Amino acid sequence: MGVKLGILGLGTVGTGTVQLLQDRAGRHPLLQEIEIYRVGVRSLQKSRAVELPTDVVTTDLDAIVNDPAVDIIVEVMGGLEPARSLILKALNNGKHVVTANKAAIARFGAEIFTAANQAGVYVMLEAAVGGGIPVIQPLKQSLSVNRIHAITGIVNGTTNYILTRMQTEGSNFSDVLADAQQLGYAEADPTADVDGLDAADKIAILASLGFSGRINLQDVYCEGIRQVSKTDIAYAEKLGFVIKLLAIAKRNAPLSPSSPLFVRVHPTLVPKTHPLASINGVYNAILVEGEPIGQVMFFGPGAGAGATASAVSSDILNLVAILKTKTVAPNLLLACGHQEYCQIAPMAELVTRFYARFLTKDQPGVIGKLGTCFGNYEVSLESIVQTGFQGELAEIVVVTHDVREGNFRQALAEIRSLEAIDSIPSLLRVL
Ligand code: NAP
Ligand code: HSE
Repeated sequence: MGVKLGILGLGTVGTGTVQLLQDRAGRHPLLQEIEIYRVGVRSLQKSRAVELPTDVVTTDLDAIVNDPAVDIIVEVMGGLEPARSLILKALNNGKHVVTANKAAIARFGAEIFTAANQAGVYVMLEAAVGGGIPVIQPLKQSLSVNRIHAITGIVNGTTNYILTRMQTEGSNFSDVLADAQQLGYAEADPTADVDGLDAADKIAILASLGFSGRINLQDVYCEGIRQVSKTDIAYAEKLGFVIKLLAIAKRNAPLSPSSPLFVRVHPTLVPKTHPLASINGVYNAILVEGEPIGQVMFFGPGAGAGATASAVSSDILNLVAILKTKTVAPNLLLACGHQEYCQIAPMAELVTRFYARFLTKDQPGVIGKLGTCFGNYEVSLESIVQTGFQGELAEIVVVTHDVREGNFRQALAEIRSLEAIDSIPSLLRVL
């Protein structure tokens, strides 16, 4: 007997998945076991890129998750509700779930995985982070014996596309965003992408897997790219960096399993020699560092119908394999094995390098005063340059050595009070 799928959603990801599952030649033979049994949509009037029998497509999504004949629910509708409730109903009805919904998992992961464990079923989410890039299963299985030190990713294609174009064309953020929206690379409401919220959901999921604990999304520090200017991109370039929106989950040195863990999303100056510096356009990449593996980088398409369908369908196939072998004992590597929350350290404790740009009066002694303020808070400078002017004001750019963020901010507060300082237009962290 075939394994029956109930697919919730027939948009970009749902359509890609149905297309892949209908086009089986040359793919894994287990795909033959899959039956697309029900597909839930909002509108029956919309024209669709796939052909499905009329009795398969329905607007009654509750009926799909409550149908005893359905073995696996594939949630590719997105959004928080009714996605959350439908996933929970499916799990409580003893159905495995495959989802691409990072927003729902990052917010409701605790209740979703608790429900799955209680029902003895799995929630698979390979497509939720990095689109087509295999990173969830590698973290759960292939890398599971490693002590993970850091996960550093470019996990949002829209912002990487915008920053790449700002870098190559010397354009402004708002101009590139408008163009990206016209070309269909950025959504009409770009908030989740450009404000870093999508990346925060994704790093919360990756951190949970890498550091074996739940992550409270509110503890993830999040800064988007709206304030990144072409001036800073040009300065970064001169100093040997590119600016990327990085999602980082990392322990402070000295490394030990009890060292403070920071989970954060922010625009970052990345040395041009770093492997993530060359990830351009809509591509994603995730660098995992651990012991004893060292560094492993996953790279590929982070979104799109085909890429995401590849991830969703591989999750489905994993479940089909389990259902076909009638495995009764839970696979401890596929199930969520942790109930405790990770302790996330406050950003004031983070040790990192900073880049800051100051606009100051053009008068003698300003650089000396800046140096004194930084010295007062043990902020050591790697470089300080004054290369340009903005009108009457001198532009001074500083890059620090590794410093405690709390100390750096105290030094900035003192600097802001100096009569010679006009403003501090940019403040970015350096990898
Ligand atoms: P989409 O194109 O907007 O498609 C959503 C689908 O769900 C549509 O078919 C829609 O029905 C249906 N739907 C939504 N709300 C519904 C409701 N309340 N009742 C019934 N049907 C409903 O979305 P998508 O881009 O495929 O994304 C789906 C999920 O995958 C999201 O969680 C997203 O974050 C994730 N994801 C997407 C990508 C990507 O490249 N797009 C990559 C990775 C992860 P109608 O067609 O009738 O409107
Ligand atoms: N909006 C997301 C991005 C799509 O730009 O990467 C994939 O999750």
